[in-house]
Amino acid sequence: MPERFYVTTPIYYVNAEPHIGHAYTTIVADVLNRFHKLLGDKTYFLTGTDEHGDKIVQAAQAADMEPKAYADRISQLFRDLWPKLNISNDHFIRTTDAEHVRVVQCILEQVHARGDIYFSTYKGLYCIGCERFYTERELIDGKCPDHDKKPVEREEANYFFRMSKYQQWLIEHIESHPEFIRPERYRNEVLSFLRENLEDLCISRPKERLSWGITLPFDDRYVTYVWFDALINYVTALGYPDGEAFHEFWPVAQHTIAKDILKPHGIYWPTMLRSAGLQPFRHLNVHGYWKINEGKMSKSRGSVIAPLDLVPVYGLDAFRYFILREMVFGLDANFSEDALIQRLNADLANDLGNLFSRSLAMTAKYFDGKVPAFGIDSEELDLAIKRQTEETVRQYQEEIPKLGFHKALMSIWECINNANKYIDYVGPWTLAKDEAQRPRLQTVIRNLLEVNKTVAVLIAPFMPETAEKMLARLGIAKTALELRLEKDGRWGTLQDGAAVSKGEALFPRVDTTVANQLKAKAMAEKANQEKQKESGTKLISFEDFKKIDLRTGIVRHAEPVPNSKKLLKLLVDIGEERQVVAGIAQTHTPEELIGKQVIIVANLQPAKLMGIESRGMVLAVGDGTDLRLLTTEQPVTPGRRVS
Ligand code: MSP
Repeated sequence: MPERFYVTTPIYYVNAEPHIGHAYTTIVADVLNRFHKLLGDKTYFLTGTDEHGDKIVQAAQAADMEPKAYADRISQLFRDLWPKLNISNDHFIRTTDAEHVRVVQCILEQVHARGDIYFSTYKGLYCIGCERFYTERELIDGKCPDHDKKPVEREEANYFFRMSKYQQWLIEHIESHPEFIRPERYRNEVLSFLRENLEDLCISRPKERLSWGITLPFDDRYVTYVWFDALINYVTALGYPDGEAFHEFWPVAQHTIAKDILKPHGIYWPTMLRSAGLQPFRHLNVHGYWKINEGKMSKSRGSVIAPLDLVPVYGLDAFRYFILREMVFGLDANFSEDALIQRLNADLANDLGNLFSRSLAMTAKYFDGKVPAFGIDSEELDLAIKRQTEETVRQYQEEIPKLGFHKALMSIWECINNANKYIDYVGPWTLAKDEAQRPRLQTVIRNLLEVNKTVAVLIAPFMPETAEKMLARLGIAKTALELRLEKDGRWGTLQDGAAVSKGEALFPRVDTTVANQLKAKAMAEKANQEKQKESGTKLISFEDFKKIDLRTGIVRHAEPVPNSKKLLKLLVDIGEERQVVAGIAQTHTPEELIGKQVIIVANLQPAKLMGIESRGMVLAVGDGTDLRLLTTEQPVTPGRRVS
């Protein structure tokens, strides 16, 4: 019976395009998933997007789009990116999926029925960026530590989840399951947080303030707080409550996140599960931040190329290798392009690339490109190389489940370096000169090919393309996902006499000049794509334009709006009388407007400005104190259509 394995990434907010941070977590989950497939386990790998809440509404507004259309666009960017990074996810979930909405409501009902939800008023400090209330203690200099902004005061009648009821249970669970939150520093962080009294969690938002969310099943004046909604994705995707996958995979669930979202995952989620009568997940894997030039990551500026843009420049596998090798899981790491180039040249082009090309070249030269059978009983050096390789396989299997990705890679590279040294010590070219040494030469070359094959199998979760390329040249036609460690990673399993082929270098060396040329090309391509995308989104069809009902009008009446410096209330004749509120008080007096010919958008949805209904919009250029009204060249009858 194969073991089960279930891994998730956070579902990413659709308020920003994907960057290296998202890529790292998703590649880590991918490596774990591929590793478990290599072990022959039955696996499930989930990623997706988090689409409700204030943040998304704000981002959509800034882009002048409806939240759903905006979410569709950004979610698609994530969905399109993952195959380019060779991510092997089984499902991509969106919190706007109808199935997810149903499951969130079902869990809310369960928690409510258990008496764990109550109605109350709360006043506190709220960070819009994090979409949550903060306690004074959590702030640094009165500011949100993640956004470096002062939270705003907010008071609201809302629904609360009795999180405090499960505090003691959670402490005991963490203490009795040392691997529940890992590495240990984050387990300690959560435990130290739990030393203080846990407050209940506000899980609703009144619709008048935020309507972009999942309606509470027991009060339709409210939507669900985005975290209560989002966390549930991890069970929705498995078909909770009745799905077979849920019963199969939930007991082995592991979530992979960065430290920014430790509290919702380490505290809200296990208590929510407990209240809903579900068992806790098995592991929460928490990593640190990627920084750029030792600073916090932000969008790439000007000519600085963003880390993800380096993928086409240096190749996907070099990128995947670098981020997994460079970051110690749990600690912060610095992203530097120089370090990437250095690793690419030293570890990939030199160590791995040389071992592979030397081994294949000697097979071609001495054995006509065919895998030689093992020769005579081996000498100590020959036995040592086998022992060391098997030890690497053992360490690798021990390290990856403990999230020691860099250690697993270090161990593989030790094996590579040993094999390179083995070539130098033994000097197969000397053996080749003496026919009597032929059996030993066979053993040496066969050993080298076996090391290369084992290395290819072990790197498959990290660098699937390279693994496949190496194996194909060793005469093994398998995809990375078809490999099984027990069989394919075992010493001696190459086919005697199988044809090997030399081919090009696995990783060409990169120098600064080449890198700069490649980058210039990649940046030009990107700029071009963006230009095309922009013009594509800015163009509208004539049909769309015709949907805007523009009319000529004459202002019949104008008066200031009380308590507003900017607004005037106008009555405009457009064949019928229209009340329009316009932000033109800083440039126009009511008197000078009477009788003026204007153009108005007549089919705009009505809106209230300072409590006064406005049914249309006056067209103008500029704003504030620099504003001109649009008018016609000659007087025109009111109500004529503008086209
Ligand atoms: N939508 C929530 C998660 C809900 S999960 C039920 C969210 N989204 S997010 O888009 O902000 O993604 C946060 C995650 O992105 C981090 O936990 C981490 O996985 C990844 N990273 C974003 N920036 C990062 C770095 N600078 N470094 C490493 N990973 C980071 O929070």
